[in-house]
Amino acid sequence: MKFFAINGSPRKNCSTAKLLDNALEGVKSVFPDASAERIDLYDFPFNGCKSCFACKIKNGRHYGKCVQNDDLKPILEKVVQADGIILGSPIYFSDVTGNMRCFLERFMFPFVAYSKTETVEHKRMPLAYIYTMNAPKEISYQIGYHDLHDHFEMGLSMVFTKPDHLYVYDTYQFKDYSKYVSDAFDEAEKRKVRQTQFPKDLENAFEIGKKVAIRAEQHD
Ligand SMILES: Cc1cc2nc3c(=O)[nH]c(=O)nc-3n(C[C@H](O)[C@H](O)[C@H](O)COP(=O)(O)O)c2cc1C
Repeated sequence: MKFFAINGSPRKNCSTAKLLDNALEGVKSVFPDASAERIDLYDFPFNGCKSCFACKIKNGRHYGKCVQNDDLKPILEKVVQADGIILGSPIYFSDVTGNMRCFLERFMFPFVAYSKTETVEHKRMPLAYIYTMNAPKEISYQIGYHDLHDHFEMGLSMVFTKPDHLYVYDTYQFKDYSKYVSDAFDEAEKRKVRQTQFPKDLENAFEIGKKVAIRAEQHD
């Protein structure tokens, strides 16, 4: 079986990446022989959907597929065959990162049928979404991130399956806060959250990976 973690953070060794790696460990705890690969979306150049509509041309060669021939193409060809996917992204200005957005446009749009009667054949694999953010939980609720992200997940649910999700709040953003203008934050408080809460977040990420694997097993 094949599972992918899609890392929407430009940082390859920070909170989002660590959580995704743990989610893949969770997958492996269910399927030790499964292939479990992390894809870092900032490793290669690509665009979002260009609105060419080649994926919707009647009897077209590229119907139901993204026609753009760039570094994302081989990735899309792999992930559409996945048995389960864990997406992860930091929140940038209340939304997922630009590269995650670009990836999702091209991952999802070819499968959206502009028809009242026809659907586009594709695999509807189980998904999970891990969101990381600087904001503490209470502020995230005040801003309304959860409503925004529920709305965002509606698209994923329509095209694939309803994702399980994990919110990771109050992340530790720098290795050394003293080097950055960051007095808006209480470093000691952030460090405490990192030491006490982040290990629990990692466990939750492991569990969410396990869940995706179990759903994939039931899916077959
Ligand atoms: C450009 C940019 C915009 C951000 N916008 C938000 C935001 O709107 N809300 C928030 O809570 N955190 C925001 N953050 C903080 C990140 O979401 C947070 O540090 C995240 O955990 C980073 O994940 P990483 O360490 O895996 O890269 C922003 C960070 C950057 C660089």
